[in-house]
Amino acid sequence: MTYKTQVGIIGAGPAGLLLSLLLHRQGIESVILEVQSRDAIEGTIKAGVLEHPTVELLKELGVGERMMKEGFEHHGIELAFGGKRHRIDLHELTGGKSIMVYPQHEVIKDLVGAVLANGTTIEFGVTEVSLHDVDGTQPTIRYKKDGAAGEVRCDFIGGCDGFHGPSRQAIPAAKRVEHLKVYPCGWFGILCEAPPSSDELIYAQSDRGFVLVSTRTPTIQRMYFQCDPTDNVNNWSEERIWAEFRARMANDDGWTLQEGPIFQKGIIAMRSFICETMQHGRLFLAGDSAHIVPPTGAKGLNLAAGDVVLLSKAIAGFYRHNAQAALDSYSTRAVQRVWRGEHFSWFMTSMLHDFEGEDTITRRFRRAQLDYVVNSRAAATSLAENYVGLPFEDMYA
Ligand code: PHB
Repeated sequence: MTYKTQVGIIGAGPAGLLLSLLLHRQGIESVILEVQSRDAIEGTIKAGVLEHPTVELLKELGVGERMMKEGFEHHGIELAFGGKRHRIDLHELTGGKSIMVYPQHEVIKDLVGAVLANGTTIEFGVTEVSLHDVDGTQPTIRYKKDGAAGEVRCDFIGGCDGFHGPSRQAIPAAKRVEHLKVYPCGWFGILCEAPPSSDELIYAQSDRGFVLVSTRTPTIQRMYFQCDPTDNVNNWSEERIWAEFRARMANDDGWTLQEGPIFQKGIIAMRSFICETMQHGRLFLAGDSAHIVPPTGAKGLNLAAGDVVLLSKAIAGFYRHNAQAALDSYSTRAVQRVWRGEHFSWFMTSMLHDFEGEDTITRRFRRAQLDYVVNSRAAATSLAENYVGLPFEDMYA
């Protein structure tokens, strides 16, 4: 199969699907290639928090209906440490903004539905994806599907194929500066059948390690505890998992976690990664292909959304006015918001996780920072404005 289109998009994750919808709204057509099956991308459990600007974008694109019905709007989060819980009132501190708890795979279902309804092709289950002539005016993406060769000829390539995809590698190594920080811990995530333990997410710091109490539905809960990244989920029985949660959540308020049968377990690695530049010739990276955050600030999908808002506008400007400047400055502009989100994710991770072998001064600094954030309106406001999400454009306007 050979496609001729305006924008060839590699990857049907949040970045690729949103890019396609944003372009379609500007009358620009695209074709999407995805290595996984539709069932796989719609069923993989990922994070679940949408920032205020992401929620507004999904609504604006006409894909927010199910999110508004089935998602849970949260006006605050809790920070737990030293046996006590402290509320950060996101809504009040940000002049009325909030976040939405709505799982990423549900967002994916809504986006795939909308992209297909636009008449846009998504080729699922492709293999051997490669990029060609990205620094010319007619780049090409080659792939295989069911053993047959395929090709997408396009004006631009959206490299939305995640950390392990081929897009980033198509930027010459000499042009790329890659920043990487690997944290000496992972998150052990579970899904369980239980009622919610709390009305809001709880980020808990303890000497035994971090815990996050999140939610999915009134009967299904999502929780995480900090673990050894090389551990194996099979080392953890249900009883051992709950005993660990109980030990870490011990408190002076008589509050307990709601427990129930665990039906999904997995270990997530923690790293910060940024690739500069995010563009080369007619290739533009967006989302995880260019940057990874540790999950502590729930920023991954939200940073991808910011990238494609800028990218779609730059591409639209090119077709409408033959404008080149916004394309040329895409990486410089996108990466500014990315660095902000990266710093916030690192800040939350550092404030909430104890690491083995740390000196006592680092541990006491952590506690000093937590005390500051829950007692100073200025510090809480800074956390809140980052957590609900800075604007996609004109971040510092
Ligand atoms: C989740 O519900 O999966 C979740 C929530 C908040 C985070 C990370 C993950 O910071």
